Order: sequence, then structure tokens, then C-alpha cells
Amino acid sequence: MSPVSEQERPTGATRGLILGIETSCDETAAAVVAFGEDVLSSVVSSQVDLHARFGGVVPEIASRAHLELLIPVVAQAMVEAGVSGADLDAVAVTHGPGLIGALLVGLSGAKGLALAWDLPLIGVNHLEAHLYAAQLEHGRIAFPQMVLLVSGGHTQLVAVAAPGEYELVGGTVDDAAGEAFDKVARFLGLGYPGGPAIEEIARSGDPQAIDFPRAMVHSGFDFSFSGLKTAVINHVRRYPEAATEDVAASFQAAAVDVLALKLERAAAEYDVASVALAGGVAANTPLRQRVALDAELAGLGCSLPGRTYCTDNAAMVAAAGWHRFRSDGPSGLDLPAVPGLRLPV
Ligand code: KG4
Ligand code: ZN
Repeated sequence: MSPVSEQERPTGATRGLILGIETSCDETAAAVVAFGEDVLSSVVSSQVDLHARFGGVVPEIASRAHLELLIPVVAQAMVEAGVSGADLDAVAVTHGPGLIGALLVGLSGAKGLALAWDLPLIGVNHLEAHLYAAQLEHGRIAFPQMVLLVSGGHTQLVAVAAPGEYELVGGTVDDAAGEAFDKVARFLGLGYPGGPAIEEIARSGDPQAIDFPRAMVHSGFDFSFSGLKTAVINHVRRYPEAATEDVAASFQAAAVDVLALKLERAAAEYDVASVALAGGVAANTPLRQRVALDAELAGLGCSLPGRTYCTDNAAMVAAAGWHRFRSDGPSGLDLPAVPGLRLPV
């Protein structure tokens, strides 16, 4: 994850330009990034409005929308970056994990472009891409690093010894953190996606109003969020007059507490030099503030990707693709979509 210094940058014709493509869930995204860190363009077309009335992502609708949006989004990314196919060094694309139909659209599009422009294709693990997001703005990162990867589909603590060297330290035994935000928001009638909606309404609530459970907080590095979700539902059914602001704020406080405490303990146990947040839930302000403060108190470095790079985007795919290309070379054109792809890679 360390940025490439000027000396490390290959000289000659290459401009280190990677076109990244991301379609694993409900964002159609394309970006052009130089040397895994300089973002020339990053275009994200969110399908949130299409899925909102269903309260979550509908896979079939997502695939069809990706089909319509992919080429315009790629074209916009190329125009904004001021490059043509001939300027690129490779096309990087998320090939898992994600929704199979959605992945296939991006993967097929990337293969077609690689073939047409005679460029190498690089398959990228979406989770690994999230780990590279912090690098897009943070410059040099201190390793080893403990990353809390929190998204709609994943909650993982990942120890990163060096770029591309991962150890999975903990995961969720039931719901992912973002899933818990989304489900609680749906129950409270706050809409989709739930994370931003809960954060917004929680601003005017009391985070100490209700003492929701902090599951498994002192044991191990795994997470469980389904008990917290059930506790919220039971509380609202029992006290229907409870202010939604207070319920949302108290839920968010419990979730942030567990996430931050486990990250802090894992960082100490693995004796890392820095911590980082990644994934959509890393956009959450109370979580960011808490993790930054904990890191400062522990004397650790802290990388928090900008909010636009926390949620799904293709700049992080291009960055991860650049590093994979240098370490492993190109993927074959028979690269499959792998909905259940995992870390470590
Ligand atoms: O990484 P991402 O864009 O997509 C996946 O790969 O899952 O993450 C989406 C998740 C959703 O569950 C969404 O509710 C959550 O990230 N999220 C947030 C916030 N913004 C997005 N959760 C809490 N607070 C936020 N501000
Ligand atoms: Zn994601």
C-alpha cells in the first residue's frame, strides 16, 4: 500500500495509467489512476434511487443498470482524464466478491476494452481494492497496519504486513456492520442506504439514551451485529414512544464502540505502526473521529480515506490493479467472476 516513489516509477513510455472498472454491487464506476495513487478521474454512477423503493439492492435491476451505464461511465472517466485507449497501460476490473450478474457486466466490458485496445487485463479483489483506498490521498503509509474493513457485505480486521500481504484477524459471525445500519434504518423507516440516514438523524439524538449491547466486545476479534439489531427492534416495540433520533444515536454509539474497541485491541496485539478504515461504513463521522482519537492516544498513524473513496469507486480498483499488475502480472482473458472471493488473496 505504500505509494510508489519517483525512483520506483518505471521510466520510458509508460505513464502508469490504469483504467479501473467497478460493478460489484450498485455503483457503476470507472476511473483513471496513475501509478496507483494519482487520480486523474473517478466517475461513480450510483443506482441508489433505483433500489431505494425496494429497501435494498435488487440484483437483477443492478445488472441491467450496469449494462446501460458502463460504457457512458467509462467514456466520461476517459474524457475527464484526457486520455485515450492508447495512453493506458492496463484495464483493471473487480472480479469478486459481489453479485454475479453485476460482476459479469463489468468483467465482460473490461475484457472487451482490453481486447480492443490490446491492453493487459487485471482482475482485482474488491476487498483488496477497499484496502488501497486510503493510499489515494494519504501518501506514505506506515506498515504494519491494522485495517478495519467495514462495508455493506463485510466486516473484517485485516493485518497488512506490507502491500499485498494480508492476514485476516477477525470477521463477523452474522451481519456485516453496514448491513446492520441498513436493517436498523429500514426498521426505523429511514430509507436506504441506511448508514448515511442513521448518521444524519443521530446528530439530533442522545447517544446515551439507550444502553444497547456491545456484543463480544472484550473477547476475540470477531464481530456480531445481529443481537444489536434485535435489541433495537425489541426496544422500539416495547417503547413505541422512544424518539427515533435517540434510538438511532444509541444504536450508532454501540456499533461504533464495538468497531473502534476491537480495532484498538487488534492494533495493540499485532503491534502495528498504523491503523486504517476502509469500506462504506468508514464514511461514518463518529467512527472516524473515534478511530482517529484512539490512534492518536496510542501513538499510531491513522489513514482515513476521503468519504468518496470509502464507498464503492473505481479509483481504488485501479490502485489495487496497479500493484497486482506489478506483483503478479496480467490475468488471462478467461478470468472468471467469483461472487464469494475472499481475502487474503
Ligand atoms: O463499501 P460499500 O459502498 O459497498 C459494499 O461493498 O458493501 O458500503 C456500503 C455500506 C452500506 O451498508 C451503507 O449503509 C454503509 O456502507 N454506509 C455507512 C455510511 N455511508 C455508507 N454506514 C454508516 N455511516 C455512513 N455515513
Ligand atoms: Zn465495497
